[in-house]
Amino acid sequence: MPNMEISLEALRRRTGVKWTDYPEDVIPAWIADLDFPVAEPIKQAVNDVMAREDFGYIARDAQLKLAQAYSERMQARCGWKPDPELTQSFGDLIQALRAAVATFSDAGDGIVIQTPIYHPFLDIVSEMERLLVDNPMQVGPQGYAVDVEGLKRSVTSDTRMLLLCNPHNPTGRVLTRRELEQIASIAIKNDLIVVSDEVHSDLVFPGQAHIPIASLSPAIAKRTITLSSASKAFNIAGLKCALMHFGHADLMHRHLDGFHPRLLGPPNVFGIEATLAAWRNGDDWLAALLEQLDRNRNRISEVLSERAPEIRYFQPEASFLAWLDCTSLELDSAPYDFFLEEARVGLSDGREFSSYTDHFVRLNFATPGPVLDEILDRMMTAVANRRRRAG
Ligand SMILES: Cc1ncc(COP(=O)(O)O)c(C=O)c1O
Repeated sequence: MPNMEISLEALRRRTGVKWTDYPEDVIPAWIADLDFPVAEPIKQAVNDVMAREDFGYIARDAQLKLAQAYSERMQARCGWKPDPELTQSFGDLIQALRAAVATFSDAGDGIVIQTPIYHPFLDIVSEMERLLVDNPMQVGPQGYAVDVEGLKRSVTSDTRMLLLCNPHNPTGRVLTRRELEQIASIAIKNDLIVVSDEVHSDLVFPGQAHIPIASLSPAIAKRTITLSSASKAFNIAGLKCALMHFGHADLMHRHLDGFHPRLLGPPNVFGIEATLAAWRNGDDWLAALLEQLDRNRNRISEVLSERAPEIRYFQPEASFLAWLDCTSLELDSAPYDFFLEEARVGLSDGREFSSYTDHFVRLNFATPGPVLDEILDRMMTAVANRRRRAG
């Protein structure tokens, strides 16, 4: 069984942004890094690069090997076989997302996004002077869902693209075949380019299945760019390696005409070797990770229902992000500020994810059980203290 134990002291020795952005008395639970030991096959692959002192330019076929490994993995896991020849690799997904927006739309064009959303999607639209066509997720008693009727209404002749995030960050939804088919049909009817960010797809909990939207039909594939990497599931974001698959050769050629790959540059040797190791030999570790994450998402439900039932939380169907609606706590400040000041827990601020989610926070629960318990206890104590103060 892979080791998932790591101490708070060891985590504090990490130099990444998650563990260095806040003072020592704050437990960070924000950016989507994992607080777990890295999978042995990845460590081995990185150590092998070191041992060979293999730091030169990457081999001519390195990117194709990566694309083949992605294709094999997608075929094994989702029954979808993306063509390796139509797959390019870069440092990270957000580069690829920006490049796609630059190629396939112009300033002033409409871009559909399902808010709340991982904030770089919103930054890209505003910084690149595109028009945000917001199609907010609907919330019902069972959780969040894509508002298909709203999507039909919001797309106009000025809308060029749809940026999909599936599994969805921050709600944790894994879109159903029905939802994806409806989105695909609207995209085809309105001639939209779809960019589907599927970076959380290795982290789907039992009972759900990830369906790449490009796998639905050739008609949707030919307008879809799928983005993926091993960086979220295997915690290697700092190694910089991501893939961009074009569902048709024409789409890739349009992209290459608009945006030369050298503007982004290829991934580096550590990123490539780590990704290959993760996808080929990392599944035992991934299974252990998912078990831990499953326990953690249940633990959050237990603690909230016992100590702060006012906080609305739907268990995510994938990944390690809990999207917490704190509206009913009726705090005087944004919950992000409240939990930072009163609980010394550094969450992600709901205000980053849309213009209307200021009463939300996102909790990254990819952390060992004792650390999660400490986070939740601090948050619940802060809520209880406030209740007492309010009388
Ligand atoms: C949905 C989504 N897309 C992209 C990223 C970032 O990917 P990258 O580090 O490859 O830019 C994240 C990181 O949390 C994410 O959640």
